[in-house]
Amino acid sequence: MSEPIDLAAFPDDFLWGTATSAYQIEGAVAEDGRSPSIWDTFSHTPGRIDNDDHGDIACDHYHRWPQDVSLMQQLGVNAYRLSVAWPRVMPGGDGPVNAKGLDFYDRLIDGLLTAGITPCVTLYHWDLPQTLQDRGGWPQRETAEHFAAYAAVVAERLGDRVPHWATLNEPLCSAWIGHLEGRMAPGLTDLTAAVRASYHLLLGHGLATQAIRAAAPGAEVGIVNNLSPVHAAGDSPEDLAAARRVDGHINRWWLDPVHGRGFPADMREVYGIELPERAGDLTTIAAPLDWLGLNYYFPAYVVDDPDGPVPYGRSIRREDVPRTGMDWEIEADGIESLLLRLTEDYGARKIYVTENGSSFPDVVRPDGGVDDPGRTDYLEGHLAACASAARKGAPLAGYFAWSLLDNFEWAYGYDKRFGLVHVDYATQARTLKSSGHRYADIVRAHREPGGPCGQGTDPSTEKGLSEAMPRCYFPGGS
Ligand code: FCB
Repeated sequence: MSEPIDLAAFPDDFLWGTATSAYQIEGAVAEDGRSPSIWDTFSHTPGRIDNDDHGDIACDHYHRWPQDVSLMQQLGVNAYRLSVAWPRVMPGGDGPVNAKGLDFYDRLIDGLLTAGITPCVTLYHWDLPQTLQDRGGWPQRETAEHFAAYAAVVAERLGDRVPHWATLNEPLCSAWIGHLEGRMAPGLTDLTAAVRASYHLLLGHGLATQAIRAAAPGAEVGIVNNLSPVHAAGDSPEDLAAARRVDGHINRWWLDPVHGRGFPADMREVYGIELPERAGDLTTIAAPLDWLGLNYYFPAYVVDDPDGPVPYGRSIRREDVPRTGMDWEIEADGIESLLLRLTEDYGARKIYVTENGSSFPDVVRPDGGVDDPGRTDYLEGHLAACASAARKGAPLAGYFAWSLLDNFEWAYGYDKRFGLVHVDYATQARTLKSSGHRYADIVRAHREPGGPCGQGTDPSTEKGLSEAMPRCYFPGGS
């Protein structure tokens, strides 16, 4: 049983949203001039993805986006985090703009605004045009420059209507998982390439920030990182030192440079790779930001691993703790501690939880409904922890559930489902899961405290949601 969510801790203009990314939902990979991305290449390489799944059709959102906007309306959300596919907009990676690609996002943004939903655009959610990979990809400085040029084009076209921009989604995954561990595109296992990619991703972030600000004055610009609280699994000095290294690898390497602290010296030593630094880069990377995006899924419990790969510490699998269908440990307190760390250690002035959610093997009932109590509990527990962080001073301005729809979960293909909305891939039918109904209740209780869902709230808080709160279901909610 989850604790009540102290909804009054969230500001009145809180953004309640869902998040997706282009390659995971759009499909239509060869339509209207889109070129292949590194994820098309990777997913069509046998053995890289579970079941050899790929994003060729995915949720067919490219054609079905009006229905997906309607689903958001059913959820009652007031924001949507989407990503733009670089290979749709600039199929060559640099150079000519593909008008049809931009037109798609133009229509989508207008559709969202008409529905009363604020669009929050991420410019890079991992789908680098393959043509740029062929020219060296993120390990090359030019890729950062091309990224800024692409960002300028998108911001010029959409900046009059999009108030929130994110440069990168989870550069950690692009650099470390894509170039060091090889489990994501482009599938390399090369420390030098990974460190260079990490550097150029952050440089690209800084250059793109300038480009967005120039094209869309007044827009709010931020970066989205996936962070984990890191704990030493034991209390030996070796485990404590390993936890410090893992924290450097997954948290500080990405946070320190954008906050003007440079790349952490201890980690530069651990990697032992010279950074491709040029004068002025660190200032570019540290361009002041309007907000920080936090993607949170799980914590890390770490032991020393001197013979393992960089950073010579590895997460252990703790027994007897709750887990999602990804086998990820469930620890709602982790999101609270990260929100407070961003506030206290990094002086964040505004934070969005840009992703948070869980995968479970959903069961479709004979009547077509989908009950997903595990996802509902995860959602409630993490929202309660967010509210607690907000009460303690974290400037939390929005929460985006991952994900609106079940979708292509990268190397795991379609078996892992994160949606508040179930997708039947054979028919593309969408069905709001019970977690989606619950999210709608919560959103409505906050947005309309006096409305039908707000009645019966916990009297101990202004707008608190109690277990006893009546559920509000939308008629025909699928
Ligand atoms: C994050 C990704 C997102 C999704 C979730 C489950 O790391 O940003 O695309 O795959 O994990």
